[in-house]
Amino acid sequence: MKKGMFIVVDGIDGSGKSEIVKMLHNYLFSKHKKYRILTTREPTHGKYGSRIRTMLREEKAPESSSKKLLDLFIKDRQEHLKTAISPFLKNSGENEVNIVICDRYYYSTIAFQSAQGLNTKELISKNISLRKPDIAFILDLEPSAALERITHRKKEKFEQLEFMKKIRSNFLKLPGLLKDNIKIIDSNRSLNEVFESIKKEVDKILVD
Ligand SMILES: Nc1ncnc2c1ncn2[C@@H]1O[C@H](COP(=O)(O)OP(=O)(O)O)[C@@H](O)[C@H]1O
Ligand SMILES: [Mg+2]
Repeated sequence: MKKGMFIVVDGIDGSGKSEIVKMLHNYLFSKHKKYRILTTREPTHGKYGSRIRTMLREEKAPESSSKKLLDLFIKDRQEHLKTAISPFLKNSGENEVNIVICDRYYYSTIAFQSAQGLNTKELISKNISLRKPDIAFILDLEPSAALERITHRKKEKFEQLEFMKKIRSNFLKLPGLLKDNIKIIDSNRSLNEVFESIKKEVDKILVD
């Protein structure tokens, strides 16, 4: 049995990440008392993450600020790992298993900033030394269907169909580019069906 587990849920906007993160949290929390769970997200609300959030809200052109964003995303991730994720995974008690569930991680940086025109290899090399998740789920569906789900939200700079198509195709290339344990999950199904696929994979790891 593993002492700690780092789970990432990633994918394009509207793919269902936040819903799945909540369901996974609830499932693990009630599955056994030994599980302590930290549910968290990127960008964070720390000093770098807050700057990213402002830029995503205020800027309009999807291609702009690629280098600045990359720099901030890396700093935000390093801070997130150092102050929240790694300490939580390290401090399991005697009969406890600590689990981090993170909404977005470096898969987003690679997929989004590649779509902004930055070099994919360089993006990978900037993230490769950071802690690897035990498992990463990439929720996948047609960008048009994803946008349909989030019509009520205020649009952020990357939420435009043509740009999202590029991001989706970048996400789908990741299993071929990284050695990470990545599962591409068909998210064009009901939330319960999507969650069932994820639960199966997580249960497999938990008994390892
Ligand atoms: N599988 C699904 N089928 C139908 N609607 C979904 C599904 N997954 C998520 N939604 C809905 O789509 C919207 C976006 O989901 P959300 O989890 O916020 O996506 P993300 O965090 O990836 O942007 C929400 O209103 C959510 O309830
Ligand atoms: Mg979300």
